[in-house]
Amino acid sequence: MSATSQSPDLAALLSAMTLEEKLGQLSFYVARFASAGAQGANPLDAMRGEGDRLDAIRAGRVTGLFNLYGVTALRDLQRVAVEESRLKIPLLFAADVIHGFRTIFPIALAEAAAFDPALAEATARMAAEEAAAHGLHWTFAPACDLARDARWGRYEESSGEDVYLLCRLTEARVRGFQGRDLVLAPGHILATAKHFAAYGAAEAGRDYNLAEISRATLHDHYLPSFRAALAAGAATVMSAFQTVDGIPATANPYLLTTVLRGQWGFDGVVVSDFASDHELIDHGFAENRADAARLALNAGLDMNMESGLFMEQGPALLAAGAITMAQIDQAVMRVLRIKERAGLFADPYRHLHESDAIGLAARARSLSAEAARKAPVLIKNRTGLLPLPSVPLRVALTGPFARDTAHLNGPWSWFADESPGISLYDGLKDRLPAGSDLIAPEPGDDPAAQMAAMKRADVIILALGETSHHSGESRSRADITLPAGQLDLARQAHATGKPVVALIRCGRPLDLSALDPLADAILITWFLGPETGPAVADLLTGKAAPSGKLPASFPRAAGQVPLYYNHQMTGRPVPEGGDDQYKSRYIDLPPGPLYPFGFGLSYTEFAYGKPMLDSESLAWDGELRISATVTNDGARAGEEIVQLYIRDRVGSRVRPVRELKGFQRIKLRPRESVTVRFTLTRADLAFYRADDRIEAEPGLFDLWIGPHSAGGLAAHFTLEAPAA
Ligand code: GLC
Repeated sequence: MSATSQSPDLAALLSAMTLEEKLGQLSFYVARFASAGAQGANPLDAMRGEGDRLDAIRAGRVTGLFNLYGVTALRDLQRVAVEESRLKIPLLFAADVIHGFRTIFPIALAEAAAFDPALAEATARMAAEEAAAHGLHWTFAPACDLARDARWGRYEESSGEDVYLLCRLTEARVRGFQGRDLVLAPGHILATAKHFAAYGAAEAGRDYNLAEISRATLHDHYLPSFRAALAAGAATVMSAFQTVDGIPATANPYLLTTVLRGQWGFDGVVVSDFASDHELIDHGFAENRADAARLALNAGLDMNMESGLFMEQGPALLAAGAITMAQIDQAVMRVLRIKERAGLFADPYRHLHESDAIGLAARARSLSAEAARKAPVLIKNRTGLLPLPSVPLRVALTGPFARDTAHLNGPWSWFADESPGISLYDGLKDRLPAGSDLIAPEPGDDPAAQMAAMKRADVIILALGETSHHSGESRSRADITLPAGQLDLARQAHATGKPVVALIRCGRPLDLSALDPLADAILITWFLGPETGPAVADLLTGKAAPSGKLPASFPRAAGQVPLYYNHQMTGRPVPEGGDDQYKSRYIDLPPGPLYPFGFGLSYTEFAYGKPMLDSESLAWDGELRISATVTNDGARAGEEIVQLYIRDRVGSRVRPVRELKGFQRIKLRPRESVTVRFTLTRADLAFYRADDRIEAEPGLFDLWIGPHSAGGLAAHFTLEAPAA
């Protein structure tokens, strides 16, 4: 049975397969060789010869390769599979297309600060087009991980601490990658909902560490984004490295079978995260490779990403009755179906015809520039220092990132093309008012010259924060303050008495409590990609206005994390201004974050009217319509992200003090007003109740519409009980 241009009879194909060919469909590998026209992006120690790999493909022992790209090389590999193997089943080619492919976009955390699902869909769509143009069919994205611990290195890949925001962005990214129909829509690729599940709950923020959370927390905060991804059609799921309830996620029957298959009805492919199946041995969960293969397959894993365990151990396990042919067939059929869904049986050389990537770069770069203007968050602007006055200025730009172009993109950007990124210096020098003077130290300059420049300046701009190596996989930090030396520079700048702007490049919420009093204005710029310089310069000079909001609480100290706005009240909440003895607090810190979730300033002021409800109660099967008028009270146009929060006063499990249930980005001219409208139904109020059902409970709710998670005017409503 050969793959033809017709949709194949997959059942007939399956029945024609030998055991080795079946296990080959479950065996995916990182590319270890770089052949002409391709770049291996995962250089690993154990280099295997290209000949070995081609023999394996020819024998039907490989289902696909990842982190290799380039139409010429991938077409050569595909030719071996579809013309020299017995059953001619096409290979899948994948890569970590995380925040862009050849053109890099702001990191996911930065994109989350824009609170803009349409933008998230557009950047995912653009990344998919570029990836498809370079021969790829599948990306290991979007990350669906909720993050609450700023010490975690992969906070940068998350969309922050709120599950509602994460769900809206996740479904948008899946739509962007996959489109509505992969086969019919050129330039789309298979998406992966990862890392299933609760990878971001790593205890102590230490990557790969256990997730010790209740089942209620799992369902209320860590699973909804995966459900949103699957509801948007995500074709695959990647299992996480760490344990949940003491059982590694990659061999966790509750996650991979009870929830994913049983409760959600997912029938796509579950792939291990790299060799997380082999790591069952390191966890002390599997005794050996055979045990690891058995436990993973029996729990619901379909595909080894790198270990080759099913190919190696499957025949003996089958003979011993430890696994069944039905299990193997079910996993193989899932793999064949996603290859069909990716259009590979219709056209095995899909995405491998002559590359048409040329026209994409300009479009992608323009989109990256747009995203880079929407993501920064202005968290401080004392005395309205920003935007800089449009008069000739002497500007001292200093700090480790003043002229930097090596750390614009952030982690997971190794496929970036050679087109240079634009530094803060180069962005500013072309955008300051005519007649201005921009001084930025060159590497190795005498510090005295830097000090003199600051003393002569009208304004000092500090380019501070983390390098790309301070964030990313296996890059958790115990100390989340600014890296060494940067505070000293900020103190020197402050001591000059000049106005100070601090630009903070970061992949996580940092502890800025020591910096805060030293700067008049603070702009969080995350990792924005190649258009960093122009975007930040436009925001500083007022050509564009900051509109981002924090997708994560910025703590006062690492000692506070995990820190998140939607926390429980506890039985001893700290009273507003009252006696805080014997209350849930620290004796050495004020309560709460330095800057709250959802917070962000613009260059104008927005006034919020009281929320108006179309009823004081929400019927069990009804809808509640809420509105509020927002007015631009300032002298400049601006964009505002209006946020809707609720609080369930009483629940069979204690409910958060606030929960985001809606947001809208609005744009208003000076004096202009708009009425922002939201609708709530019972489904928005559901949670994992004490009876282990996910459903709402009747009772009293608070509601706020405001500019962030600690503000807004309150209203109240009652969810009525269901009719008897
Ligand atoms: C890594 C990451 C995962 C990535 C995979 C393939 O370990 O955890 O996110 O997709 O391996 O590179």
